[in-house]
Amino acid sequence: MTTPARLGVYIHWPYCARICPYCDFNVFRNRGGPEPAALARAIVADLEAQATLTGPRELASIFLGGGTPSMMDPAWAAEIISAARRLWSPAADLEVTLEANPTDAEAARFDAFAAAGVNRLSLGLQSLDDAALQFLGRNHDAASGRRAADAAARAFPRLSLDLIYARPGQSPAAWAEELQRAIGLGAEHLSPYQLTIETGTAFDRAVRRGRFAIPDADTGAELYDTTQRVLAAAGFEAYEVSNHARGAAARSRHNLIYWEGRDYLGAGPGAHGRITLDGARQATHAAARPADYIARVAERGVGFAAREPLGAREAAQERLLSGLRITEGVALVEVAALEIAPERIDELVRLGLLADDPQRLRATSAGRLVLDRLTAELAT
Ligand SMILES: C[S@@+](CC[C@H](N)C(=O)[O-])C[C@H]1O[C@@H](n2cnc3c(N)ncnc32)[C@H](O)[C@@H]1O
Ligand code: SF4
Repeated sequence: MTTPARLGVYIHWPYCARICPYCDFNVFRNRGGPEPAALARAIVADLEAQATLTGPRELASIFLGGGTPSMMDPAWAAEIISAARRLWSPAADLEVTLEANPTDAEAARFDAFAAAGVNRLSLGLQSLDDAALQFLGRNHDAASGRRAADAAARAFPRLSLDLIYARPGQSPAAWAEELQRAIGLGAEHLSPYQLTIETGTAFDRAVRRGRFAIPDADTGAELYDTTQRVLAAAGFEAYEVSNHARGAAARSRHNLIYWEGRDYLGAGPGAHGRITLDGARQATHAAARPADYIARVAERGVGFAAREPLGAREAAQERLLSGLRITEGVALVEVAALEIAPERIDELVRLGLLADDPQRLRATSAGRLVLDRLTAELAT
């Protein structure tokens, strides 16, 4: 097996102005102090240490995600980006994405992030409806969301917008209308996510207490169909379950690295990585708390405790899970270790959940709606 040459780099910036009630990412309230600057330095040191492991690679993408990386000092983003560019060979079409929240204060710094080397902004618009934004516990309104989208379109060559739908009481007609308004903002990429109630979040507790309920499965499916229909009519291709792009060049190259099972490094608190070394796929997981991460980098050079080799079955399971999310699916040879019985595949094709393709497993649009069931049927 040859070592894959291209590499993505994920940087996790865990601080947020406040914690949204639906969010279960690895996030911490930003309390200022010296820690964020120390974290930026530790991330650069972690990348330097990991570069000695990977050896020379072509750098395909850098993704500054969070948390809220748009709250970091743009000078730190510049240092992290230039360290990655120095440590590996930047591809001619290197994609550098920053996740941003759409407050006016953050939009005012977009030009500085562009000067730091960011060429794609992923803006967490979430909604264009003030009542919905309030329900979601966001610290911006629809007007500042629109202003931030305009500022981003001026500052960056590429723009993606995140939206959250399937909110309590949301009708397909209202969602279609909101989506049209989001399309009107001119982004090349849209990521509408169905609201998920994650265990341990404030929304989880509220739902348990009967404060609100999310739409039932039928309404959820109707809202999902509305998303597909409205975005397809506007020229967006649903290249992944929740990701729609205006043409192949507008796809998220970084996320495709995950979905296509390629190599990526993770740096920053809680970041995951997958690196193929000596023909074996290895998993890394950095310490989750910023202080622990900084201490670990100071002690060991890297932010993770160990590189864990993935077994053939485990690696194939990951390939299946991510591959079924994208239009191209996953080649059967890549998931051979799962020893999926041909009769099982035939049955899922008959049910209309998998496309009839002798070489690849590809979920149909009906299959994408029940992806959990589909992957469970194939992986167990
Ligand atoms: C890691 S968040 C970071 C984005 C940025 N901090 C923000 O909030 O705008 C990435 C995206 O995941 C989505 N997301 C997070 N939790 C979700 C949930 N429980 N249900 C649906 N979407 C969610 C949101 O659309 C969010 O923009
Ligand atoms: S949704 Fe974004 S801003 Fe809100 S807590 Fe999660 S990462 Fe932070």
